[in-house]
Amino acid sequence: MLVLGLESSCDETSIALLQNNSIIANKIYTQEVHSQYGGVVPEIASRAHIEKVDRLCTAVFEESGLKTTDVELIAVTDSPGLAGALLVGISFGLGLHTSYGIPVTGVNHLEGHILSVLLENSEITFPFLALVVSGGHTAIYRVDDYGCYIRLGQTIDDAAGEAFDKIGKLLGFPYPAGREIETQARSYQSEECIPFPVARLSTPGIDFSFSGLKTAVKYHLAEKDETYIKNNIPLICYSFQKTIITSLVNNMARAVEETGIERIALVGGVACNKTLREALAAQFDDRVYFPSPLLCTDNAAMIAKAGYERFKRNETRIPRMSPNSSF
Ligand code: KG4
Ligand code: ZN
Repeated sequence: MLVLGLESSCDETSIALLQNNSIIANKIYTQEVHSQYGGVVPEIASRAHIEKVDRLCTAVFEESGLKTTDVELIAVTDSPGLAGALLVGISFGLGLHTSYGIPVTGVNHLEGHILSVLLENSEITFPFLALVVSGGHTAIYRVDDYGCYIRLGQTIDDAAGEAFDKIGKLLGFPYPAGREIETQARSYQSEECIPFPVARLSTPGIDFSFSGLKTAVKYHLAEKDETYIKNNIPLICYSFQKTIITSLVNNMARAVEETGIERIALVGGVACNKTLREALAAQFDDRVYFPSPLLCTDNAAMIAKAGYERFKRNETRIPRMSPNSSF
């Protein structure tokens, strides 16, 4: 089955073609315009999606040699995300659906991230635990089958990626700052670090909190002069990143202990982080699965995969925009 995936929930416009489980095309346009504002500006994002979506779609068909009429299902992200940005992908998908009579389904962005791991790791079997770490979300899911997801915990404030981006902004890095923080942290040559706090929550479940860490870094920087900060960027990045990773690994360890499930998938933009990958692999050996970086950050191949699986279990749905929907 040939599935056309559409993703426009935040600052990536992406269109993919998936033939069953094989990626034929996965074009991603990242809107760099937001870096000058230190974060995504919703109205600019919507306009940038409008400008790109049609051209990207044409390029996908030209490069693959396939035609719109070859498509058997359209899968489009309909929640959660920025309202105006989602609307662009949904309208485009519904336009193709109406013009060509191709079946369409809405897809939850987080389901896309979770299933992204299956595009390259077909050997991973259900049930498994998924640690979803992105700019908008940080959560642990128990994945019993396609369509069967139980959330075991989530952040009660900032997402992990958001914490990376906010600390990066304090340090003067362009948005998104995750990759630069990782590069700086990996250049640090010592093990000595600033003891930033790892949040311990009294809520039931396996929740995360990163706002205290963000405040701790902010106060630490406020106490220091510019020269200290300039000379200690690797130390600060190393200490901050180590604290985030400790929290993610500790909570995964709890999830493994509580569920008895030992297979783990690390997905979402922050899953690009090599140090996090290494820390999870060190703790859980070869039971950890990662998508390649292009499938970790927002992309339409994962949306096509989620749509394809919805189609197979007869659960397609008319896209319904629900910007804040939890999952
Ligand atoms: O999944 P994604 O593309 O978008 C959302 O759904 O939010 O994730 C983007 C997030 C950004 O916060 C970015 O800073 C973070 O992923 N990120 C990283 C790395 N690469 C991207 N965070 C830490 N280390 C990285 N190497
Ligand atoms: Zn995402």
